[in-house]
Amino acid sequence: MEKIYLDRNENNYGPSPECLEAVTTVTSDVFSIYSNAYKSGYKSDLSQRLAEEFKISEDRVLLGYGAEDLLKQVIQTYLKKKKKSKLLIPDHSWWYYKEIANEVKGKSCEYPLVEGKDSYEYDIEKLLEIYKNEKPDVVFIASPNNPTGNSISHDELIYLLDRLGNSFVVLDEAYWFSSNNERATELVNKYPNLIIIRTFSKLYALAGIRVGYALVGSKIKRMKKLSNRYLGYNRISEKIALAAMKSVDYYNDIAEKMRNDRDLYFTELNKIENVKVYKSDANFVLVKIEKDLMSPLKEFLVEKGLIIKFMDEEIVNSHMRITIGTQEQNRKVIEAITEFYKSYTQ
Ligand SMILES: Cc1ncc(COP(=O)(O)O)c(C=O)c1O
Repeated sequence: MEKIYLDRNENNYGPSPECLEAVTTVTSDVFSIYSNAYKSGYKSDLSQRLAEEFKISEDRVLLGYGAEDLLKQVIQTYLKKKKKSKLLIPDHSWWYYKEIANEVKGKSCEYPLVEGKDSYEYDIEKLLEIYKNEKPDVVFIASPNNPTGNSISHDELIYLLDRLGNSFVVLDEAYWFSSNNERATELVNKYPNLIIIRTFSKLYALAGIRVGYALVGSKIKRMKKLSNRYLGYNRISEKIALAAMKSVDYYNDIAEKMRNDRDLYFTELNKIENVKVYKSDANFVLVKIEKDLMSPLKEFLVEKGLIIKFMDEEIVNSHMRITIGTQEQNRKVIEAITEFYKSYTQ
């Protein structure tokens, strides 16, 4: 039986045909010769193209081996500088944030995301209170946030950024699925300590090529310096990412299908008693079920070849996170969960 993987927030539609075409037209020099972009005064063709897209200078676009690498670069630059350095993160967040702080013996402290009627919300004043007490070196905000799927509103973000001036702030936008790029430009131009991190892994269905990028404010000097790679970047990955940026219609169509299917999960699974689906702005939904049903439901779905993420962190331990797959895959998951509840709870 073919397995359907919906547990790591990958994009099962796959990349645009132009991305695949870009691979077949790679010439031998791309394999054997370092990039010559530096001769033109910039890091790479991709950073140059991103700079044009976001209308900022190329030196303020940093490239990494996925967003993961850039998150690590931030931590390694700004956390291990002094002993007892601190990272402030949401209490519901990607488990990996704590891990990368641990790697440099940094301490992580948390601010709450509060469960509302159908989504998680920020308690901005509480966050600021914790910020004042903890005095973190770096603050992470993920929008949309993994695993809760909620975003921070524009007004909340501005209110916060106006008050977090003494720390480096990372806005992790790995799950940014909108075509609006102007907001990012506005933010990094206004806030000198801000680092916005994005990736080609999620919307562009290019997790395997490992390309992420950061747009940085004017005071992000150390990271900018350390991030530069003397011998350049992966030229094949760059070509594929450039092709993805051209495929605007293809990705707009996927984003639209995903938005519709996210609504479908929300309406269909919320009809089941004791199942709560949270609103999400990402390519996944968080679903709360009764704790006792976690194992039997997981087994039921695995038997049908449906692999979704059953959370085991203390703060979300009766929850599953379902990656939005293709339309056909999503219907299968919804049908299977509905069938489980009909048979199991009768
Ligand atoms: C919140 C968040 N940020 C960043 C990443 C890293 O993505 P990548 O390294 O593939 O760009 C992930 C991956 O799942 C994630 O969930």
